[in-house]
Order: sequence, then C-alpha cells, then structure tokens
Amino acid sequence: MAELQEVQITEEKPLLPGQTPEAAKEAELAARILLDQGQTHSVETPYGSVTFTVYGTPKPKRPAILTYHDVGLNYKSCFQPLFQFEDMQEIIQNFVRVHVDAPGMEEGAPVFPLGYQYPSLDQLADMIPCVLQYLNFSTIIGVGVGAGAYILARYALNHPDTVEGLVLINIDPNAKGWMDWAAHKLTGLTSSIPEMILGHLFSQEELSGNSELIQKYRNIITHAPNLDNIELYWNSYNNRRDLNFERGGDITLRCPVMLVVGDQAPHEDAVMADSGGQPQLTQPGKLTEAFKYFLQGMGYMASSCMTRLSRSRTASLTSAASVDGNRSRSRTLSQSSESGTLSSGPPGHTMEVSC
Ligand code: BEZ
Repeated sequence: MAELQEVQITEEKPLLPGQTPEAAKEAELAARILLDQGQTHSVETPYGSVTFTVYGTPKPKRPAILTYHDVGLNYKSCFQPLFQFEDMQEIIQNFVRVHVDAPGMEEGAPVFPLGYQYPSLDQLADMIPCVLQYLNFSTIIGVGVGAGAYILARYALNHPDTVEGLVLINIDPNAKGWMDWAAHKLTGLTSSIPEMILGHLFSQEELSGNSELIQKYRNIITHAPNLDNIELYWNSYNNRRDLNFERGGDITLRCPVMLVVGDQAPHEDAVMADSGGQPQLTQPGKLTEAFKYFLQGMGYMASSCMTRLSRSRTASLTSAASVDGNRSRSRTLSQSSESGTLSSGPPGHTMEVSC
C-alpha cells in the first residue's frame, strides 16, 4: 500500500513560550488534520471498480473503521465534518479509516456511458470484500448513512464474522412499498433529481429554512459534474429490496449496532424511518460522544480516555438508560430531549441515538 502519513500526538511535547496547553493541543490537531491527506486507491471487483481513501495507519488487533456515504454525497461531503470534528480526533487516532466512494461518486469521476448497468445496493455491498482483501484487513466497524447504512447492513448480514460493530445513520431497511412508489412518481413529475435527493437527505423544514448548510449541499448536488452517476445510485437506492430483519430470527445483525436517527425525521414515530436530517453534518459533537460510548461498550475506549464532558454525560445517560430490550424505537425518540437521547439495550447489542 502507498505510504500513509500520520503524526503522533505526544503528551510530552514542550509548550511554546506563552502557549496554553489548550492552544498547543488545538495546534497539534490542526497540524494532524492538515498532514493526513488520506491515500486514494481503486480496486476492480466483479461489478466494476471501486475507489476508497485510507486515513491513518492500521492498528494491530483493531478493526478498521469503514464508512459508506448516502446518495448525492461522497465520502468527503458526507463524513468530513464528523471525522474532522475536534473531539473525534481522540477516537480516530486509534483506528485506520477506510472511506468507500460508491462507483462514480469519487471526486473527478467520469460520467458512466449511456446504458451503463449501475450495481444494485446488494452488489455494492458485495464489492466491500475486494476492498478489505486489497488492504488485508480482517474486521471492520462500519459507519453508514442512508443508502450507505443499508449497504453496510447488507454486508454485515452476508459477512457477520468480519463486522465488529455498525453505526447506522438514518437507515431504511425496507424496499419502497406501492404507496412510496406512487408518491415518488408524483414528486418526480414536478421535482428535479437534485431536489428529490435533497428531500431524501434533509427534512422539508430544513430545506425551507435554507440555512448555509442547505445552500452548500444544494449547490454541491445541483452543480455536480457527475449528476448522471448520482441519478444511477439514487435509482439503485429506490430499487432496494427489504433487508428482511427478523427480531430474534435468523436474519439479524450479530454485532453491536448503534442506530442513529436525525431529530428532523419527518416520521418520528416510525421504526427506522427514512428520516430527513444529516446528524453527522449538523450534530458532529453529539454523534462523536455517542460513538465514543459505543466503542467503549465494545471495549475499545477506556473510560479514562474520555473527555470530562463525555464522562459526566455518559454517567448520567447510563443511569437513565432502560434495560428493557423490548422498548420500541418510537418510544426512545419520543423521550428525546433537546440535547438528544441515548439509550442502550443489553451490553454489546443495540444502542439508539436521536440527534
Ligand atoms: C478521516 O480522518 O478519517 C477523514 C478525514 C477527512 C475526511 C474524511 C475522513
């Protein structure tokens, strides 16, 4: 593999005259983010080539964090705000990260020729083993958003032994029903592809609020040079089949799962509804904290590594968490407060986060 750059942050580094420890830490983090540019690779798979970018160096006996982005985005536009969030640095420095771009979504991707058969979401999941073989990585913790969450869940169902944990943000595990199709067709009569994708990524409230973030993402998607490729990924997403999860049945995720749903979800009471809102963009702090808690539950982050803020919030969240594994997700969401809700089921199983 091509050379990877990583700057180790050591506690002993002397302070510059007049520099506070906080300022020194901030400068070190900034330097690390600047220097670690990631290394981009492509591999051939039975369904075409796939591009991915690796940050950090492999850590012995630790899984890689592997991300998969949603429709209309690529790994950078989907995950950069989360992975470059300051508090996230203390987590990710312990893991190598592999950020997969769905085919044709990587920066500078050429537009696929007319008639190109874009892979289904199941086939996109089947491309992941080629990435892991190329890198010689045996296990992962997957972090996926929307379509990416579906792909990683499908991968985990097919390759349970290689997935140590999953963070699934705004997953919709079901195929579109006929009502969804009718609504989709009607919207398609009056809306452009970028507007439909924006309606998948964000809630109507967020879109009409037209914040700077919405303007930025509307601009990225509307002017994407690979919009035709994006439409192909969008079509594959809309043609997904049911993941067919069975509570307590054979088709189930065998690893710890952190389910995240944006507070902007249009159907707040639906289990794992196709929610609006991109918490990894709008709430990186809450997501970082929940992720840290999740990793800690898997035995990867000693509580002594956690920030004071996380330690105190984790303590209060833990004592507030119910051990009723049957509690429904909608109830969890209805319990959410302004600062977000975390709840945990039995240790090592499902953790639900609303932010
Ligand atoms: C990372 O450090 O993993 C990362 C950096 C930039 C964009 C996305 C991820």
